[in-house]
Amino acid sequence: MTPQPGIFAVGAPEHCYLELDAAPGSEPAELVGALAALLGPSSDVAGACLTVGVRPELLRAVAPGATPPDAASFEDVVGPELTMPATQHDAWVWIAGGSRSAVFDVAVTVTGALRPRFAVASEIGGWVYRTDRDLTGFVDGTENPSAVEAPDVAIRNEGPGEGSSVLLFQQWRHLSTFAELAVPEQERVIGRTKADSVELDEDVMPADAHVRRNVIEEGGEELAIFRRNTSYGGSSDHGTVFVGFCASRHPLDRMLRRMAGVEDGVRDALTRYTVPLTGAYYVVPALGDLAGLADLPEG
Ligand code: HEM
Repeated sequence: MTPQPGIFAVGAPEHCYLELDAAPGSEPAELVGALAALLGPSSDVAGACLTVGVRPELLRAVAPGATPPDAASFEDVVGPELTMPATQHDAWVWIAGGSRSAVFDVAVTVTGALRPRFAVASEIGGWVYRTDRDLTGFVDGTENPSAVEAPDVAIRNEGPGEGSSVLLFQQWRHLSTFAELAVPEQERVIGRTKADSVELDEDVMPADAHVRRNVIEEGGEELAIFRRNTSYGGSSDHGTVFVGFCASRHPLDRMLRRMAGVEDGVRDALTRYTVPLTGAYYVVPALGDLAGLADLPEG
């Protein structure tokens, strides 16, 4: 089953993320059908790459076979000192393009096509900072799977939800206090060097370094996810749009729990300088499933 290609379409400089709430009383089939139709032949979204996600329970109500078994809405992640808040919505649309105008035009088309079934709950503009850095100034994505590995990490390869992906979508505000740290201190927060993104040696890597919190072994294998983060905001209020894909929810969930210190009381140092403002999980269904749901001929 073919996944939505936008998950892997790297390189676009401009992004828009829409989270949408269903109008009260709408039928699940109608809602999912309207989302699926965005990628269909009568949809006019030329000029940008569109990726569509659905709240797991909403998709399951219409198409259980298209939904990964462990996919579920986000719930607050509550650590001893930090709570990552759940702000789940019903649908997610990611528009990626070569220019802000192209992305704007498609966003207007998308919101118009989804009205009145969906109302926009949140809209974030994402952009690429210095090729591959996040707004801490560190390279973000060094340990991401390569192009050949990413589909195995991000996409379910069998059973319910084959060809789909579980998305964790979180907006993180960055605090100005990080920039006040000396660079070696910043490096101990992340767990890598700032200039060239080399992982710190084990003997100098703190237990609460971001990298250390997110390197998790289960059954002798390291849990892997595929990140497509961008930056948002301007000089006074800005941060990271975390866009993480995985074949199941479990690895994403464990990473969040480790960052919040739920499992062992160790809180990720990065969360002392960044604030999770939102949190939601969506299923990004396979193209073939979407085609069926929108009553479209399969391509
Ligand atoms: C403010 C939000 C975040 C920022 C600025 C951030 C930044 C970074 C940076 C700079 C790295 C090191 C370079 C790299 O390998 O990419 C990294 C690694 C990583 N991050 Fe994050 N991150 C954030 C949130 C998260 C969240 C919420 C998760 C998981 C749900 C996560 C999972 C990971 C993973 C798995 C790695 C790679 C670890 C490794 O294998 O070495 N990050 N992140």
